[in-house]
Amino acid sequence: METLLKEIAQRTQEAKLTTKADCENFKRDVLGKNGLIQTAMDAFRDLPGSEKPKWGSELNRLKTEANTLYQTALDNLDSEVKLPWTDITLPSIPLPKGSLHPLTQVESDLTALFNRIGFRVATGPEIEDDWHNFTALNFPENHPARDMQDTFFMKGNPDRLLRTHTSGVQIRTMLSQQPPIRVVAPGRVYRCDNDATHSPVFHQIEGLVIDKDVSFADMKEVLYYFVDQFFGKEFEVRFRPSFFPFTEPSAEMDIGRRKANGEIAWMEILGCGMVDPAVLENCNIDPEEYSGYAFGIGIDRLAMLRYQIPDIRLLYENDVRFSGQF
Ligand code: DAH
Repeated sequence: METLLKEIAQRTQEAKLTTKADCENFKRDVLGKNGLIQTAMDAFRDLPGSEKPKWGSELNRLKTEANTLYQTALDNLDSEVKLPWTDITLPSIPLPKGSLHPLTQVESDLTALFNRIGFRVATGPEIEDDWHNFTALNFPENHPARDMQDTFFMKGNPDRLLRTHTSGVQIRTMLSQQPPIRVVAPGRVYRCDNDATHSPVFHQIEGLVIDKDVSFADMKEVLYYFVDQFFGKEFEVRFRPSFFPFTEPSAEMDIGRRKANGEIAWMEILGCGMVDPAVLENCNIDPEEYSGYAFGIGIDRLAMLRYQIPDIRLLYENDVRFSGQF
């Protein structure tokens, strides 16, 4: 009996059950019908009663130990087999890197540029009412200037419209802040237009300065700075007289680059002017005490110039092959 139990203990201690075959062999030799444990049980049955207590508990302990060893090894093998095979040395699938849309880049460059000379950012709603978008800006009812800015009106409420320009933010700012005011208002605007140079949605950045003794010369200084910073010193600038209902006098500003033959190719990039006294009055600001200037720049036009984009609609197609280039 003693030798039998020693052998069981030794087999159990030395067993290396790393494969299914190891487990099967161990089961056959130790746990099985003709295995060591069964042999020991048979021998135990034939022992005289006085000897039984001496060997019984040891035999039971060894039996449990061998069974546990076998069962654990088998469970481990099973769970290993169930794991999906993963090659951890495979490089991962590359994730495409995102980039900022050219319009976002230009808009944040412009805001940063004006921030540096003291302009804060102001905002207004894209769904605007007729008063902020037109009337308060001195567009008389039925004035042809309104036709030039035909837009999208809300069904059932023609007083609500998608703003045609960021100039309405001038009104909202003057109504909510006391002068001195020095803000830029970037944002989306809408018109009923659609061709290579016009999109029904586009972007502007509006500038507004209201203070005592503000002059046209102050405005030119700021606009020269903008051109220098955004385009570089090699660009020429010129102002042409123009008309906007909310400024008097009004101008359009062109930038130009000298061509090889010495001529300058001009391109209009913004509207500007001195805020009309009637607009100041609409916002409860005394035109005898305060004056100011305003300007509106088309952001899409600047992005097209900077990145040489031939068709404005490319900016709105959400094609990463396009927007990933900038
Ligand atoms: N709001 C004008 C437009 O969209 C642009 C403009 C012109 C803005 C003159 C101004 C300005 O602030 O003074 O056509």
